[in-house]
Amino acid sequence: MDHFLYRNGSLHAEDVALTEIAASVGTPFYCYSAATLTRHYALFTEALNPLPHLVCFAIKSLSNLAVLKLLGDLGAGMDVVSGGEYRRARAAGVPGDRIVFSGVGKTRDEMRLALQGGIRQFNVESEPELRALSQVATELGLTAPIALRVNPDVDARTHEKIATGKKENKFGIPISRAPQVYAEAARLPGLQVVGIDVHIGSQLTELEPFEQAFQKIADLTQTLRAQGHDIRRLDLGGGLGIPYTRSNEAPPLPLDYGAMIQRTLGHLGCEIEIEPGRLISGNAGVLVAGVIYVKQGEDRDFLILDAAMNDLARPSMYGAHHDILPVTEAPPGTEMQPYDVVGPVCETGDSFAKGRALPPLAEGDLVAFRSAGAYGAVMASEYNSRPLIPEVLVQGDHYAVIRARPTFDEILNRDTIPEWL
Ligand code: LLP
Repeated sequence: MDHFLYRNGSLHAEDVALTEIAASVGTPFYCYSAATLTRHYALFTEALNPLPHLVCFAIKSLSNLAVLKLLGDLGAGMDVVSGGEYRRARAAGVPGDRIVFSGVGKTRDEMRLALQGGIRQFNVESEPELRALSQVATELGLTAPIALRVNPDVDARTHEKIATGKKENKFGIPISRAPQVYAEAARLPGLQVVGIDVHIGSQLTELEPFEQAFQKIADLTQTLRAQGHDIRRLDLGGGLGIPYTRSNEAPPLPLDYGAMIQRTLGHLGCEIEIEPGRLISGNAGVLVAGVIYVKQGEDRDFLILDAAMNDLARPSMYGAHHDILPVTEAPPGTEMQPYDVVGPVCETGDSFAKGRALPPLAEGDLVAFRSAGAYGAVMASEYNSRPLIPEVLVQGDHYAVIRARPTFDEILNRDTIPEWL
């Protein structure tokens, strides 16, 4: 469920008409709904309520400071994967003891930043990283709380570019070698083992792969405890999928996911951490774009939008489907027609949809891409020297620009021409 609905024939974000925002900030822009973000976060906390838990929002899915502040104020923790994300979480007011640090390539500088600023735990992904962290922590005279990310060799049955839990993927330590690596972690100075971490992939639409992985984590917990390790937290990663179309998909609900976690891991008495990104932010955002031209093609028309692959990369990158809605609702009985929906970037891959059935549209009309809150703005680039587009947050009947469109002066001033040219 989200809060993007038609009212009097006009698509609204909560109580604000998208046409009103478009008139003041111009298109294209991202628009997020505070009520939807809040609701999605609450679904997870409710689902895990019977267990001690912390829901750490995966910042990589949507990292605007206003969104982080909103979620942080609700009590959310944050999952960060870079020094930049760590800084964002802190700048949004999230305390270090609610931040977990994931990622296969943490640098020593990033380790220092988090150790000095405060961190709940590092999710360590390899032995070299373990040794580097031990060294950095020892130099600083600090102790790094750690969980080892294990790779359970489970098929997440999702898009290959976002599956992470098979042994051929670069992520984590093979679960078979975990006892050996935990033994090394216990020997190294400056480290304190606090738990186990696992994340098998993103946009999972079934619970079964999760359950298989969590079962293996339950067994590993017993094994490691028997070897004397203090396993008090289990970080289960993110990955629960969302419906990208309103018709045919019904991914599992957070409530069922929570019940499955209780069933497989509840008896261990561990604190549960999860790192959902997409389920919290995905359907809490839309991308609103304007039609520049309608161009007649050989057998169908091209809808040329002012948004492009640099603004929303998922369709060109993963062949992802995003529902497209006209911002002004077509009257009942309107005949749909197929459009190839494209952007202005000079690449054939700059395509959002082929043969998409939409009501007849004309220059200046607005469309909204649904489910664009996650991995939308954060993956945008300035390719073709197109400025990053604004982000707007709606709450009830008011809205604010939470990232302004940069001016061309700002963009040009970032480059320098050396004096010897
Ligand atoms: N934790 C870790 C360690 C992760 O690597 C990820 C996502 C998450 C949590 C959050 O997963 P989520 O709940 O959002 O599925 N750009 C791709 C998705 C990449 C996901 C990367 N890791 C896309 O647009 O589909």
